[in-house]
Amino acid sequence: MTPTAPAGAPFLPWNQPTIGEEEIAEVTDTLRSGWLTYGPKAARFEDAVREALGVQDAFAVSSCTAALHLAFLTLGLGPGDEVITPSLTFCAAPNALLQVGAQPVFADIEPATLNIDPQAAEAAITGRTKAIVVMHYGGHPCDLTAFRKLADDHGLILIEDAAHALHASRDGRRAGAVGDLAVFSFYANKVMTTGEGGMLVGRSDLIHKARPLGRHGIDSSAWRRHGQRNTADYDVSVPGLKYVMPDITASIGLRQFTRLPAFTARRSEIATAYTEALATLPGLTIPPVLPGVEHGWFLYSVLIDPATAPLDRNQAAQVLRDVHQIGTSAHFKPVHTLAPYQSLDTCALPVTETAAAKQLSLPCYPAMTDRDVDRVITAMRRLWSS
Ligand SMILES: Cc1ncc(COP(=O)(O)O)c(C=O)c1O
Repeated sequence: MTPTAPAGAPFLPWNQPTIGEEEIAEVTDTLRSGWLTYGPKAARFEDAVREALGVQDAFAVSSCTAALHLAFLTLGLGPGDEVITPSLTFCAAPNALLQVGAQPVFADIEPATLNIDPQAAEAAITGRTKAIVVMHYGGHPCDLTAFRKLADDHGLILIEDAAHALHASRDGRRAGAVGDLAVFSFYANKVMTTGEGGMLVGRSDLIHKARPLGRHGIDSSAWRRHGQRNTADYDVSVPGLKYVMPDITASIGLRQFTRLPAFTARRSEIATAYTEALATLPGLTIPPVLPGVEHGWFLYSVLIDPATAPLDRNQAAQVLRDVHQIGTSAHFKPVHTLAPYQSLDTCALPVTETAAAKQLSLPCYPAMTDRDVDRVITAMRRLWSS
């Protein structure tokens, strides 16, 4: 098969962050300021996200996983509690549930959006169910209206794992603004990054409880105590952990967040180009955008059906990598198949398992040039014509 990359062309990675001089200048300013840990810049970053989402409160933390762990600790989830969640997700939320002693109960997904199916979630509710953790797969928000109603009707807490969906919305509701709590990730491959980082947002009563849990249980932040010059005057109200976001990290976040609308617009442009060019390839399902959805386009996620396509997902990934020098990724290995979950009593998840075997994520990020986009399109078409 003829490669699509010109001889000597660099490998096109599946994902790459966009970091510019403004992020570097903001970090330099923080380094020169004398205050490196959680402080004024983290507070400004929290304010920016809180205002953009219209949520009551926001807490900048060291990762999305930290935000999930804090959310579950804040809610007092523990042994005997069941929490409904998809299996086609990253292991962070289920892992954090096991860490607090609660039991993840996996519900199947919708075949089109790959988001948790509200009907499957409802069928999984028992007398022990305490919460539902939805995940906005690839940046396409799940049915937020249905999940808010489901949670309210059954007296359950709704948590949004919005790691993929900062700057996405559905029916006029921002992803991350509907749950009692929601979490975002600023990991290096996300729609905006701080390298590592996360944000816990939501109801002010819950965030008020989460803050001390994320700073050793201490009742006020080091920045505030420092500002008041009484650094030793503190109490520990709960046995907390250390999860706060340092100001060095928040500096990157502040700048990335102002660029997020432009990042999303470029992601959307790339997604449109792919969809126009690839939609007719037999056996290839392109990602849908349901009416009323502003997609965040963390993933451009296709499904390859080996019954009608000339090759299967693994073969496609291999040829793209070895022949065309193009990186891809797969999202995700279903969590119920991972070692710590195999002994759980899990209901049948046929849509999850079928989708996971066919799913492939193509490169889709703002650092890509138009030539990069054309290269991916040409390579995909060659896969289908060989
Ligand atoms: C859906 C989802 N939730 C949570 C996480 C964890 O994010 P972090 O690496 O910031 O802890 C990820 C990371 O990829 C994710 O995809």
